[in-house]
Order: sequence, then structure tokens, then C-alpha cells
Amino acid sequence: MKFKGENILSAGQFDRAGLISLFKEASNMEKIVKKGQSDILKGKVMATLFFEPSTRTRFSFETAMLRLGGRVISNADMVQTSSFTKLETLEDTGKVVSQMADVIVMRHPVAGSVSTLAKFSDVPVINAGDGSAEHPTQALLDLYTIWKNFGRIDGLTVGMIGDLKNSRVQHSQCEMLKHFKVKFVLCSPKGLEMSKEIVEELHRKKLDVQAVNDLKKFVGMVDVLSVSRIQKERFVSEREYKKFAGTFVINAQLMKFAKKSAIVIHPLPRVDEISVDVDDDPRAKYFEQVKNGVFVRMALLKKIFKG
Ligand code: NCD
Repeated sequence: MKFKGENILSAGQFDRAGLISLFKEASNMEKIVKKGQSDILKGKVMATLFFEPSTRTRFSFETAMLRLGGRVISNADMVQTSSFTKLETLEDTGKVVSQMADVIVMRHPVAGSVSTLAKFSDVPVINAGDGSAEHPTQALLDLYTIWKNFGRIDGLTVGMIGDLKNSRVQHSQCEMLKHFKVKFVLCSPKGLEMSKEIVEELHRKKLDVQAVNDLKKFVGMVDVLSVSRIQKERFVSEREYKKFAGTFVINAQLMKFAKKSAIVIHPLPRVDEISVDVDDDPRAKYFEQVKNGVFVRMALLKKIFKG
């Protein structure tokens, strides 16, 4: 992939070479941040349009842009405070915002809506999460965290646990991990399994996929423990959600069964699926991931503007 001028809408756009070159650029960005401010994107403006709540992703993109010397215009609450309330369409919003900004970052509860806006935008658009479909840049930083910690991705066993049906993060992780020789172990409550389409795609790539329901066994098998929260906002009612809430909990006691070299990743926010007693375990990488997110997004922005 060439990156320059491209929309970043789906994890499926990335190939192995593109991923590795992005990780190398992210490593460079770590060095740049250590030295201080950069002016690589001086004069460029990023617009962040969030139709769904966010703490990390919006701040991460904005920090990345600011650290590269660019500037940010931001609406964290498009639903309440944008012309959306006056029934402006996504199509017109894309056209309008792209007359002002050089790049648009957008999150929306409806799958496919970021692509809709992108069709009408005159500048590149980055998907910061569209419903339960995709969250490509979170998966980029997750894979970067794996790559950084192990020095490779090939040969690892990746365990995914949680709301595999609705976690856009884990969907995008699968889509990117399929370019590496990894084994997948899946663990989810009954009814929240990974979609057949995604599992079939992994099979097409000749990757090993196993479902394991015994928690101790699951934890003991994996090099990477990728955890997701039960995605409350995707359930039709509180009652439906409650059926699944609290089903799986990774705690210090369970971590005794995990490999010494394993890592635990989670996009955050967490509810109760990882106990705070895991936070001091050196294998817990979810706060390190937040830092990595800025480096990865800096790398992505640099590549979109400069190639
Ligand atoms: C994730 C998201 O929004 O999909 N959070 C994030 O971007 N860091 C995960 C989640 O909300 O569970």
C-alpha cells in the first residue's frame, strides 16, 4: 500500500509490508518524541469528528498531530453540537469539513458510515471506529505492541477473549494478523463468538483457529492475551447485556497459569474483565499500548501526508 493521500477505512487495506514499514516508522516516532517537538506536519490541520464517546482514540490522534507540528480542530460530540442536529447528511458533512481540514478522523456508531463520509471528502479520512465493524488504527497499535514486545509476530499464539462478536478491535486485529504465521485461540461467552466470515477468512489463509472455553487452559496456551470488554452499547437492552456482563475475568490468580513471556493487551476502557490486581504484572501492556498509539498514529499521519 502506498499510504500517501489514502483513506484509512479498513484493516483489510494493510498488507504485511505496509504493516512492517509502519511499525518501523512508529519506532522512529518514539525517537522524535524523546527529542521533543517535530515540524513534519507544520501548517496541516486535522479535524476530529466523534459521533460516539472516546477518551484515548481522539486524544491519541490529536496528540499525534500536535507532536508532528500540525494543528487540530475537534468536535467530541457531533451528535449534540454539530449540524447533525439540523439533519445535515454525512455526505455534506464530509464535503464541508474537507474544505477546511487536510485530514479527517471520524468515529460513528453505524458500520460503513466513515466510508460514506469519505466518498464525499476531498481529503483523506481515517476510521476511528465504525459501530461493531472496524477500528483499524487500534489494531495497528495492538500489533505494534506485539511486534515491539516480541520483536516479531510470526510464530506467536494469539488468544482472543471477550465479546468477539461485537469488538471492532478484535475484528480488525484478525484482519491484520492474518498476514503473519500466528495461531488463534478464541474464547467467548456462548452467543458472542467471532463471526463465521472472519473465522473462514483465517482458514482461507491456512491459519490454525481453535475455540477453547476452559479459562486456565486458554490462558496457558497463548503468547498474546487480547481481551475485550462486553460491548454494552451494542446490545438491545440492559437485560441482554447483563446476561454476559462479568462472564470472564482475568485476575492475578488466573495469570499464574499464563506463560512468563506472555503479554496482556486491551484497547481500554475496561469494565471488570481485567482486575486491577493484574496492573502491576509486567505482562500487562494495556497502558503501554496507549503510549504506542500516539507513535503509531504519528507514523500513519506522516505516511498519509508524505508517503
Ligand atoms: C475501543 C473502541 O472504542 O472500540 N476503545 C478504544 O478505541 N480504545 C474498545 C472498546 O470500547 O471496548
